Amino acid sequence: MLMSNFLKIGHRGACGYEPENTLRSIKKALGLGVDMIEFDVYVCKSGELVIIHDDTVNRTTNGQGFVIEMTFEELRRLDAGKGEKIPTLQEVLNLINGQVQVNIELKGAGTAEPVAKVMKDYLSKSLTSWTPEHFLVSSFNHFELQTFHRIIPEIKLGALICALPITLAQFAQDLGAYSLNPSIEFLNQAFIDDAHNRGLKVFVYTVNLPEDIARMKAMDVDGVFSNFPDRL
Ligand code: G3P
Ligand code: MG
Repeated sequence: MLMSNFLKIGHRGACGYEPENTLRSIKKALGLGVDMIEFDVYVCKSGELVIIHDDTVNRTTNGQGFVIEMTFEELRRLDAGKGEKIPTLQEVLNLINGQVQVNIELKGAGTAEPVAKVMKDYLSKSLTSWTPEHFLVSSFNHFELQTFHRIIPEIKLGALICALPITLAQFAQDLGAYSLNPSIEFLNQAFIDDAHNRGLKVFVYTVNLPEDIARMKAMDVDGVFSNFPDRL
C-alpha cells in the first residue's frame, strides 16, 4: 500500500465544516493540511467564472435561478452561507496561491476555454506561485476535457465517472487522462487495478465515513475527496 502518496483532497473546500465552494471553505481546507483542494466552476451570464456546484443557486444560496442566466452582479448579491459570497476562480486561485494543488472541476458546458485562459494567465505571471504541476482539471463532460487539453496540453486531466463501465478504465486512458476519478458508489477492485495497469492514478469521491476511508486505503487508491479532509 502506497500510504505516503495517498492524496488528501478537500471536497468543495472542506464543505463538511463550512459553506461549500466559498473562500471560507477553502481557508478551512488549507488549515486542515490538505494536499489538494477541489472546487466546481461555471460560467455565468456576464462571462465571469464562478465557483458553485449546482446549475442553480437554489440549494447553496438565499437566491433562486440558473447560474448561466444570472449576471455576476446578481450572483454577488447572494449569501452563499455564513455571509459568504459566491467566489470567482481568480479569487480562489489568489487565496490558495500555490500552497497546495487544486482540482478545478469543469461543470457547465463551455467552461474549458475560459478556465484555460485564466490558468494561462496565472501560469505566465512571474509573481504567482502557480506551476502546471499544481493543477488537475476534471469533468464528467469528457468533451470539455478534450477541449481543455487542446489549449493547455501540459495540465493533468481527471476523468470523472459515476458508473462502472464494461471496458473499465479504457475511456480514461483513451482521453489521455492522468487520473480516473470514480464515485465510491460503483467502485470495485478490478476497476482500480485496471486503472493502475493503464498507468492512471485513482482519486475517489466522496469519502467521508471512517470505514470507507479505511476501505479505500486498503484498496490501494491514490487519494480521496472528502468533505472532512482531517479524517483522512
Ligand atoms: O470531483 C469529485 C466530485 O466533486 C465530483 O462530484 O458532484 O461533487 O462535483 P460532485
Ligand atoms: Mg466537484
